[in-house]
Amino acid sequence: MEGSIAAQVANFYERHPYPAPIDDLESYGRSWDALRRRAESHLFWPAEPYRDDRSILVAGCGTTQAAHYAVRWPRSQVIGIDVSAKSIAFTQELKQKYALDNLEVRQLSVERVAALGESFDHIVCTGVLHHLSDPDAALRALRGALAPNGALHLMVYAPYGRAGVYILQDYCRRLGIGHTDAEICDLAASLKTLPPDHPLAPLLRSSADFASSAGVADALLHPQDRSYSVPQLMEFLERAGLAFGRWVRQAPYLPWCGALASAPHHSKLIELTAERQYAAIELFRGTMLRHSAVAYRKDRLAQNAVVDFDGDTWLAYTPVRLPDTIVVRDRLPPGATAVLINRNHTYTDLYLPIDERQERLLETIDGKRTIAEICGQSGDRTLARDFFRQLWRWDQIVLDTATAVVTS
Ligand SMILES: C[S@@+](CC[C@H](N)C(=O)[O-])C[C@H]1O[C@@H](n2cnc3c(N)ncnc32)[C@H](O)[C@@H]1O
Repeated sequence: MEGSIAAQVANFYERHPYPAPIDDLESYGRSWDALRRRAESHLFWPAEPYRDDRSILVAGCGTTQAAHYAVRWPRSQVIGIDVSAKSIAFTQELKQKYALDNLEVRQLSVERVAALGESFDHIVCTGVLHHLSDPDAALRALRGALAPNGALHLMVYAPYGRAGVYILQDYCRRLGIGHTDAEICDLAASLKTLPPDHPLAPLLRSSADFASSAGVADALLHPQDRSYSVPQLMEFLERAGLAFGRWVRQAPYLPWCGALASAPHHSKLIELTAERQYAAIELFRGTMLRHSAVAYRKDRLAQNAVVDFDGDTWLAYTPVRLPDTIVVRDRLPPGATAVLINRNHTYTDLYLPIDERQERLLETIDGKRTIAEICGQSGDRTLARDFFRQLWRWDQIVLDTATAVVTS
C-alpha cells in the first residue's frame, strides 16, 4: 500500500510538475541582496555570526526551488533532490542556463537522503512531507542529514484554513475526477460556478495556486494530502528528534500582535506556554493554510539561540531589518506617525502603529549597531526594550544575538 501511494505521488508530479516551470531567474536574483541574506541568516541562526556559505539541501525541490536557493546563496553548495524526473530536468535546465556551478540535483526520495552520505547546515523542505505515505519516516531521514547546528525550514499544510480544499477534494473523489488536462480544465471551469459563500471561495480569490492548472491539480486532485494542526506539528517534530525553534513569520501566532493584543482574552492567552498560545491562536484565527517553522536537532550544541528580552543581554543584540517590511503614512491611527507592515503577512490586523520617538529608533537600525549603541547612554531603556521586542515579535526585524555572545 505504502509503495502504491508513493508511486501515485511520483506519477502525479511527473504529470504535473510543481510549481509551473519558469525559465527566467533574473528578477529573482535581483531581489536577493546582501541585506536580505544577512536577515535570513539571523532568522535561522540568531546566535551565529553571519555566514553565506552554509551547505543547503532542498528536499523535494520541484521545478525551481533548488535553483532559487543556488541564486540566492551563490557561495553555498546546494543540492536539490526530488522523485520527479521532470522536475529534476527543469532544474537542470535552469542550472545550465544560468551556469549555477554551486547546484547539484539528484532524482532521489527524501526517505533515501542518507544515500547522499552528507549532512547539511540548512535543509529546506516545503510542501512535501504532507504528501507522503509515511511523513514520520521522511522527517527522521531529514533529521539524520541535519548537521549538529543545522536548521530545518519545514512547511506543511494546516487544517482549518484548508477546510474548503478538503470539501472540494472529497467532491472530486466522489465524481471520480482524475488529473488529465481535460479533467483539470473542466474542474477549473466548474470552480467558477462555485457558490460565492463556499468555504473554498476566499482561496479561489486570493491564492496564487488556483491561477495555474498545476496549482489546481496540486490542491484538489492530489492522491495524498494531510495537514498538521499546531499540536500535531509539535508532536511530528518531537517524534523525529527535532525541536521547534520559531515560526518563519511569527506575528500571526502571537497574542501581542494584531487584534488579540487588545482582546479580552489577551490576559488569558499570555498565561499559557508558548506552544499552547500558538495552538489557541491557530483556532482563533481559523484560516491558517500552512505552517512554516524553523526546527533544530534536539541535541544541538547552540542552546543559546533563544532571543531573550529579560535581563540585560538584549542590549547587546544587533537588530537587522527584515526585507518586505514597509512604513505606511496614510490613514494613521490617532497618535501614530507611521504604521509598520510586513508584506508577507496575510492578516490585515497585523500592522504596528509607531510614534515619533519609536520612529527615531527605527531609523537608526543599520544592521551594525547594537541596541545599546542605538539607544545611547542617556536613552530610555524601557522604551527601547519594549520597542525592539515589539519589532521582533511583529516580524519587522531579526536579531543578531552573536554580538551578545561575544560581549557577554
Ligand atoms: C508541492 S511540490 C513542492 C516543491 C517545492 N518544495 C516548492 O516548495 O516549490 C512537492 C514536490 O515534492 C516531490 N516529492 C513527492 N514525494 C517525494 C519524495 N518521497 N521524495 C522527494 N520528493 C518528493 C514532488 O515530486 C514535488 O516536486
